[in-house]
Amino acid sequence: PKIWVLVPAAGTGSRMQSETPKQYLSLNGQPVLEHTLNVLLQTPQLAGVIVALGPEDERFGSLAVARDPRVQPIVGGRERADSVLAGLRYLAKRAASHDWVLVHDAARPCLTVSLLHSFCEKVASETEGGILAVPVADTLKWVEQSTIGRTVDRSHLWAAQTPQMFPLFTLTQALDAALTEGVPVTDEASAMEWAGHTVAVVPGAPGNIKITQPQDLALAALILRAQEE
Ligand code: CTP
Ligand code: MG
Repeated sequence: PKIWVLVPAAGTGSRMQSETPKQYLSLNGQPVLEHTLNVLLQTPQLAGVIVALGPEDERFGSLAVARDPRVQPIVGGRERADSVLAGLRYLAKRAASHDWVLVHDAARPCLTVSLLHSFCEKVASETEGGILAVPVADTLKWVEQSTIGRTVDRSHLWAAQTPQMFPLFTLTQALDAALTEGVPVTDEASAMEWAGHTVAVVPGAPGNIKITQPQDLALAALILRAQEE
């Protein structure tokens, strides 16, 4: 089966507090999205890359990677899940029924090709897909009214990353149903779990950060430099 890559890149980056949406900020001399797409273009069995953009995006066309014929921009939606569903709907008419879809945030430019490859290989042997995640490092407190209710056992707690990869048809059904039912879905796995599917977890990398807050850009620059060494 082939793998379609779907990249939600339609956010405004409100927590980043920058005029330019974070996916277009310069990272070691290249826009964040350019880094992300260049890694994703090395996905094995790649069928194509769908990039969900904001309705008024005027920046995508000036990326070098926009000229790659494997890359197809579409218009995203209000929330991240709406952008992903827009991509899945676009693919419904173009993909084969047994194809897979790999979803990866535009804002995670530090994914390495080697992690991408090992992730795809591991998840391909699962029937209902899987995600990258890392064990939570901090001590976790359940807080109510600014005081600690209790310390949460973190031995089973992992922080979800992307990529997340699933059979295209199964994810489309699950996400569509979850959004119709008003289920909160902050990643693809949430919809799959809610629909009763078994989602595998592949250990990710601490360096596969999502650029979220202003200081994350400098951190991502250091991580990319360290990867080059
Ligand atoms: N995203 C999207 N469509 C949306 C919202 C987010 O495609 N309606 C994308 C973002 O562009 C990003 C990824 O989903 O690549 C992860 O979302 P997040 O880090 O929350 O990005 P933003 O929503 O842009 O940032 P913020 O929540 O701070 O506004
Ligand atoms: Mg957001």
